[in-house]
Amino acid sequence: MATESSDNTAAATVGTDDEFVRPIDPGQYNVPDWEAVAGPAAADPQAFWEKEARELEWFEPWDKVLDDSDAPFFKWFTGAKTNIVHNALDRWIDGPRRNKLALIWRSENNKETRTLSYYSLNREVNKMANIIRSMGIRKGDRVTIYLPRIPEIFYAMLACAKLGAVHSVVFAGFSADALRDRIDDSESKLVITADGSWINGKIFKLKDIVDDAVRHAPTVENVIVVRRTGHEVQMDPLRDHWLHDLETLPIANGRCETVAVDAEDPLYILYTSGSTGRPKAILHTHGGYMVGTYSTFKYVFDIREEDRYWCTADPGWVTGHSYLVYGPLLNGATVFMFEGGASYPYPNRWWQLIEHYGINIFYTAPTAIRSLMRFGDAWPNRHDLSSLRILGSVGEPINPEAWRWFHHVIGKDRCPIMDTWWQTETGMFMITPTPSVPLKPGSGTRPFFGQEAEILDDAGNPVADGDEGYLVLKNPWPSMLRTLYKDDQRYVDTYWSKYPGKYLAGDSARRDKDGYIWVIGRTDDVIKVSGHRLGTAEVESAFVSHPAVAEAAVIGLPHEIKGNAIHAFAVLRMGYEPSEALRDELRQHISEHLSPIAKPDGIEFVESLPKTRSGKIMRRVLRARAQGLPEGDLSTLDD
Ligand code: PRX
Repeated sequence: MATESSDNTAAATVGTDDEFVRPIDPGQYNVPDWEAVAGPAAADPQAFWEKEARELEWFEPWDKVLDDSDAPFFKWFTGAKTNIVHNALDRWIDGPRRNKLALIWRSENNKETRTLSYYSLNREVNKMANIIRSMGIRKGDRVTIYLPRIPEIFYAMLACAKLGAVHSVVFAGFSADALRDRIDDSESKLVITADGSWINGKIFKLKDIVDDAVRHAPTVENVIVVRRTGHEVQMDPLRDHWLHDLETLPIANGRCETVAVDAEDPLYILYTSGSTGRPKAILHTHGGYMVGTYSTFKYVFDIREEDRYWCTADPGWVTGHSYLVYGPLLNGATVFMFEGGASYPYPNRWWQLIEHYGINIFYTAPTAIRSLMRFGDAWPNRHDLSSLRILGSVGEPINPEAWRWFHHVIGKDRCPIMDTWWQTETGMFMITPTPSVPLKPGSGTRPFFGQEAEILDDAGNPVADGDEGYLVLKNPWPSMLRTLYKDDQRYVDTYWSKYPGKYLAGDSARRDKDGYIWVIGRTDDVIKVSGHRLGTAEVESAFVSHPAVAEAAVIGLPHEIKGNAIHAFAVLRMGYEPSEALRDELRQHISEHLSPIAKPDGIEFVESLPKTRSGKIMRRVLRARAQGLPEGDLSTLDD
């Protein structure tokens, strides 16, 4: 294998290159045949993207489709003026989709439903935009959104975009420390949150976390609070405002104009984990991101007027941004959002919702499929899932066993699975089938239209078919990240310096004899836990913020449900003794100081960590030790 420190080879993506699953009737899909689009797009990617862009509305046209004069700082649709909200909402209001459902929302307790037509969603977004405008939010200002899966997260994101303000959504499971870092780094003036969220019937106190985070955040002037759980919270009379109070003010009423922005103006930043310490702030823009999410959603999910589409991702992650909020609305689709999780109170919750709402397209993550599969076929078999037409998977490699279960038990062998490989950075699907493409369980098939992927060895040479190497993308694409916010150098170093001119994805992959790509896992110090992206450095720094820990190293170990689980090695400070109680305390500490998703499964107390002479932790050795495997070449080990 060409790659060095793959931390994520867990989900055992050993599918077989010869196992084709062919569509029952490729002609049933409205989207054109793959080859008919792929051929011309390969010959002229810019012409393909220009054609896609023409399906959207622009206030002023572009001078150039792609400006690569300052690569890798690529620009798309330069000179054009638009606003993603104009295309996601405004343009539907005066047409036949005015009364079509944009959003159907169901509460975790199963007792509340909210349905919003495009007209109603637009009204709520206008209201929110008027309110935040009255608080001084203008084009370019950053707003942190820390909300659960409730309709207000749509209003908040779209209201920011409407004004040209830059949203920074932080997943409402991150700790006060993580939230504070993200608020500080983005210099947000406003935070939009809720009193709490519902998690498995219990209240998770979001407002308390926000209070903790903004106490020392000098940039925050206002906090808007949505009442969701109704428990008592502290309200700072000068800083904090209930949304339902603000909504009664005259200022909230009426239309709020959608601000015309440059295609290259920022739309949002989204923090994600990287190899080294600080999370990276991925920056996306209005024009190119709009074209990329619109086009990929249309082709891959074969979206139809009457469809009901459900993406189980949280809006706090990129999948929620691109394929819960923007991509579907840009296509005028009906989106379903569920507040709760997959198996509370029973493991049939999702299947029951699919039946109840007649969901046609269902997009979820391998970890969820694996966890539901464990409960057996009887749960889904209690429900009529015949409305399903297309399934989707994202976030990590899907192991063929889970793929087959999803295909057979949920999709009744009728529904193709769109295994979409992409990243926070790419903004849109990069390796993905369309519904008429022959599939192979465990492979995302081929790069999307206009894209070319390569698998390279360390020196930059393409590896032979079947061999593993570094996955790179060759062509710029419209929804690519533009930079890392406030850190252009790190953008260049991370993605463009290993192989100049090519985008380094950070994944290892192999290509088979049919040109199908099999993504294996990360090559850097990123661990995918239940599809969530965590950096080893972030978890390690949460460890050493505990007084007992002098030094820590974490690795990912294969886990049947989560794909990878975090396994930690901790060196204790003088005066502390290893114990089960300390182990529990450290787990709790990580949960509170980073996020419950980062909670380590295993913690080993050790005397020292294996390091190279230059002081780098040898994770490879730790992984071997944890799994009881041979430790390999130890010649570079210090000591
Ligand atoms: O390792 C790949 C994995 O998730 C990484 C990107 O994580 P994130 O930025 O959090 O975005 C996740 C949602 C798009 C990738 O580098 N990954 C994502 N989708 C797949 C995948 N690995 C294999 N197959 C996929 N379909």
